[in-house]
Amino acid sequence: MTTSAEEHKSPFVGGDVPDEAYRQISEVLREQQNFILDGYKDLCIKRRIAARIRAVGESCAEGYVEKLAASEKEQRQLLTALSIHVSHFFRNPSTFRMLEKKVLPELLRRAVQQKSKLRIWSVGCANGEEPYSLALLCKKMKIEAEQMSIIATDLSPEALQRAKRGCYEANRLRELSEEQLESFFTVRQQQYCLHEEIRRLVRFFRHDILSDQPFYRADLILCRNVLIYFSREQQQRILQILAAALPEGGYLVLGRAETLVSSCRELFRCIDPAERVYQRLKKEEQLLPTSLVQQLQNF
Ligand SMILES: C[S@@+](CC[C@H](N)C(=O)[O-])C[C@H]1O[C@@H](n2cnc3c(N)ncnc32)[C@H](O)[C@@H]1O
Repeated sequence: MTTSAEEHKSPFVGGDVPDEAYRQISEVLREQQNFILDGYKDLCIKRRIAARIRAVGESCAEGYVEKLAASEKEQRQLLTALSIHVSHFFRNPSTFRMLEKKVLPELLRRAVQQKSKLRIWSVGCANGEEPYSLALLCKKMKIEAEQMSIIATDLSPEALQRAKRGCYEANRLRELSEEQLESFFTVRQQQYCLHEEIRRLVRFFRHDILSDQPFYRADLILCRNVLIYFSREQQQRILQILAAALPEGGYLVLGRAETLVSSCRELFRCIDPAERVYQRLKKEEQLLPTSLVQQLQNF
C-alpha cells in the first residue's frame, strides 16, 4: 500500500490541477504579476499549468505553488506558457488578400477624405508577425508611412521584446516570397531579421485587452486567435471594448476558429464569414462607462 507521502513523490501526471492549487496559483499571479486568470477557460489553462509543473520537475501541484510564490522568474515563465505566442507572417493568407482587395483600399479612401491617418491595431500581436505582415502589405500597396499608424499590443513583455527585435526563424516566414525575404530581411545567426524600414512602421505596447483600459481608436482591428483563450463573458467584454475603439464602418478581423458571441452580433455586420471580417455598425457608446468612451475620444 502506498502512503500519501509516497504518492507525492511520483511525477506529476495528467492535466488536472486540483481546484485549491489552481486558486492559489491564480492568487499569486494576481497579487504579484497583476494578471487576472479568472476569465480564461479553466481546462485549457489547467493543462498548461500541468505541463509547466512537469517541466520544472515538481511532483505535485502544491509543491509548484510554493515554488511559484517564491520566484518572480517562474511567474514570468508560467505567464509565457499560459499565453502561447504561436504565429507566423501572413497567417491565413486569404485574410490578407481580403484586406488588400477590399478593406484597406476602402479605409484609405476614407482616411484621405477625412484628412486623417489610416489607423490599425493588432491586438495580441505575439512576436510581431501579424503587425509586420500588415506593414509589409501596406508597403506593397504603396501606402506611405505618413498616411498610416500601426499599433501592436500584447500581454507578454517577452513576446513584445522579440517583436521589437524583429528576428525570426525561417518557418515563421513560410508565406513570404523569395523577393520579400531578399528585400526586407537580413540573415543573421540563422535568423531572418527584418529591416528597420519595416520595423519602424509598427509601435509596440504592453496592454492587457481584458483588464487594461482601451487606449486606441482604430479603423481596422485584428484580434486573431486571442478570444479562444477566454470564456464567453470575457469574449463579450473584449468585443465591446473593440467595438468602442472602432468608428462606425471600421473593421474587425477575428481568427479562423473564432466568432462573435451572440450578445455582440448587433454591434457588427459580418462582411466575410470565412475570413471572419466584421464591420462596426452604428455606435452605441453606452457600451462602456462614459469615462472610458471619453478617454478613447481624446486619444
Ligand atoms: C496565439 S497568439 C496570436 C498571435 C496573432 N494574433 C495571430 O493570430 O497569429 C495569442 C496572443 O494573445 C496574447 N494574449 C493573451 N491574452 C491576452 C490579453 N489578455 N491581452 C493581450 N494579449 C493577450 C498572447 O500573449 C499571445 O501572444
